[in-house]
Amino acid sequence: MTFDFDHPPERIGTDSQKWQKYDGRDILPLWVADMDFLSPPAVKAALAERVAHGIYGYARPVQSTTDTMVAAMQSRYGWKIEPSWIVWLPGLVVGLNVTALAFAEAGEEVLTLSPVYPPFMSAPKNSARVSTQVPFVLRGGTWAIDWEAMDRAVTPRTRIFYLCNPHNPLARVWRRDELVKLADFCVRHRLVLCSDEIHCDLILDPALKHVTAATLSPEIAARTVTLMAPSKTYNMPGLGTSFAIIADPALRVRFVRATAGIVAEVNTLGFTACEAAYRDGEPWRQALLAYLRANRDALLEFVSRELPGVKIEAPIEATYLAWLNVSALKLADPIAHFEKHGVGLSDGAFFGAKKGDYVRINFGCPRATLLEALRRMKIAVQAL
Ligand SMILES: Cc1ncc(COP(=O)(O)O)c(C=O)c1O
Repeated sequence: MTFDFDHPPERIGTDSQKWQKYDGRDILPLWVADMDFLSPPAVKAALAERVAHGIYGYARPVQSTTDTMVAAMQSRYGWKIEPSWIVWLPGLVVGLNVTALAFAEAGEEVLTLSPVYPPFMSAPKNSARVSTQVPFVLRGGTWAIDWEAMDRAVTPRTRIFYLCNPHNPLARVWRRDELVKLADFCVRHRLVLCSDEIHCDLILDPALKHVTAATLSPEIAARTVTLMAPSKTYNMPGLGTSFAIIADPALRVRFVRATAGIVAEVNTLGFTACEAAYRDGEPWRQALLAYLRANRDALLEFVSRELPGVKIEAPIEATYLAWLNVSALKLADPIAHFEKHGVGLSDGAFFGAKKGDYVRINFGCPRATLLEALRRMKIAVQAL
C-alpha cells in the first residue's frame, strides 16, 4: 500500500491551531509539533465506524484496546507490562503536571535538561514546585549530558527528574549507556523518573532503537512514570489521547490520586483511534519514517549549502523537529525576521535557549512546503 504524504488536504480555514496562527497571512507554519499529513487510513476508517455508531457516552477502553497496548509494548520495546499499569490521560502535558503534583511538595524541585519542550519547565511551576535545568553540552558533534553539572544541580529537595526521550527539540535518541547512568542517578538521589517517550516511534536513524527507561532494571522501574501517546507518531494530537505506564502500585496510586477531580477522561474517539493506530498503523508509520528521513536530508543539505549563518550542530536522529543555531545572524528576534519573510518557526527562547540564538523548525510537512519555506529562509538570510 502506498500513502500520499505529498498532497494532504488543505488545513487553511480548519480548526488547526498550527494554521490559524497565521490566518490570512502568507506565512508557512512550521512551528507547533503536529504534522500536515493525514493520519493512517486505518485510524480514519476506525473513527468513521465509531462515529457511525452514533452514541458517544462516557468511555472505557475495551479489552481489544488494552490487549493492543500490551502487545505493542512487548513487540516494540521488549517491555512486558500488565494492563493495570496503564493510566489513560487526555494529554502528556497533563502527565507532567500530575507527576509534579503527586511526587513533590510545594517548594521542592524537579530537575530536567535544557533546552527542552517548554512544559518540562512550566509544569512544576504550575503547582508551586521549582524547576531546575541543567544545560546540555555539545561534545564530539552531539548533545551530551553534563554529569558534573547534574551532580551540582541535584539537592536534598529534588524529587523528580523529567526525561525527554527521544529529545524535543534536540532530536537526540538516548543510548542505553546514557540511560543506565541516568537511572543510577535517579536511584542514587531517590528521584522519581518521569520519562516522556511521546516521540519514541519516530526514530529516523535505522541503526538506533528506542530504549524505554523503565526496562533498564527493576530498581528504576519501581520509580518510573513513563508517558506515551499515539499523538505525535500517527498525527492525532487533537484527539487528546495519551497514557502513563506505572509498574509500581504505590507510585501508581499516588499518581492516580493526584488526577482526582481535575483530569478529564479520555474520549471515546481517542480510544478507538489509539487502538487502530497501534494495531494497524505500522505500514503507514514505516512509510512516514521514510518520508521524514528524506525531508530531514533535504533540510540538512539546504541548510549547509544555502543558509550561511544557520547551523544544525548534531545529527537529527528522531522526531520531525530540528534545532537551528541562528546566533551568527545576530538577530534580536529571529522569529519576527523569518515571519516577515513568510516562515513561522518556534522561538528557541521558549525552550530555554538564549533569545536570538536558536529556532526550531517542524519538517513534518509535504516536501514542497519544506522546500518553499527553506527558499524563503534563504531570502531572509540574504536580506541581512
Ligand atoms: C516531548 C513532548 N511531550 C509532550 C507533548 C505534548 O503532549 P500532549 O499534546 O499530549 O499534551 C509534546 C508535543 O510537542 C512533546 O514534544
